[in-house]
Amino acid sequence: MHRETVLTPGDLIWPLFISEGSGVEEPVASLPGVSRWSADGIAARAREAVELGIPCLALFPNTQPDRRSDTGKEALNPDNLMCRGIRAIREAVGDGIGVLTDVALDPYTSHGQDGLIDDSGYVLNDATVEVLVGQSLNQAAAGADIIAPSDMMDGRIGAVRTALEQAGHANVQIMAYAAKYASAFYGPFRDAVGSRGLLQGDKKTYQMDPANGEEALREVALDLAEGADSVMVKPGLPYLDIVRRVKERFEVPVFAYQVSGEYAMLEAAVAAGAGERDALVLETLTSFKRAGCSGVLTYHAAHAARLLNG
Ligand code: PBG
Repeated sequence: MHRETVLTPGDLIWPLFISEGSGVEEPVASLPGVSRWSADGIAARAREAVELGIPCLALFPNTQPDRRSDTGKEALNPDNLMCRGIRAIREAVGDGIGVLTDVALDPYTSHGQDGLIDDSGYVLNDATVEVLVGQSLNQAAAGADIIAPSDMMDGRIGAVRTALEQAGHANVQIMAYAAKYASAFYGPFRDAVGSRGLLQGDKKTYQMDPANGEEALREVALDLAEGADSVMVKPGLPYLDIVRRVKERFEVPVFAYQVSGEYAMLEAAVAAGAGERDALVLETLTSFKRAGCSGVLTYHAAHAARLLNG
């Protein structure tokens, strides 16, 4: 009765990687236990999530290299992997689960950056925002419930919000990756979406310096002023102080992303016999709730939900 924090499957968002084909499961080597699934497999995971009580899935496409380009225009294709994944989920479980879609160009660009770049490789903010707006509308039209811009361009939340209203998608929410750090913990994710080998340079001109906390509060304030319904802090465990500060300052739903490198680190600890998986998973996820999170994006979502359901 003295327990202050309760973790339930309803707190979890399950990130899934979509691949081409059908009947395809491709294990991601740097994320042991995580696979990319073709649309039918995504539908099966959606049914599983509903049974487990997980309220939301987060989708990421593994776009084939021949569909990538300098402009990332595949992001605007109404038949791209992301849209097919959304539709497969709707066919499988209807509105029985929330679908959160990532907005950024890195799964679609031949250079692996989140936006369009100039000749020197510098990301162009305003030109990128125009494409992100088109990408968001494309995802909303396919049935996304929550648009989650992870690109970190300035002004994109306001632009996406306005476009959604004008296109008749007023009920589609925006979860802003408001405080997203230029982190060393994203490596396995870049393998999973196929951008690691392509990425030229780094993302430090638009993602945040891990040394900064006040800047995170400024970023959150801007995204909320532009119309975000909720905000995200990313990565997770190393940044729980930021979660707490955001929660105390703004009193809005705050989410955290326990990212790929955090998952891999925990699995490596288990493989090395340094700890016990079930206990590590539940302790870390409970810590997110204690810090003030309304929910957590985690690759351990299904496993954690199984444990919590007993
Ligand atoms: C890209 C994006 C990244 C992640 C989510 N969206 C990687 C990056 O910024 O390079 C990372 C998630 C993870 O590591 O699990 N827009």
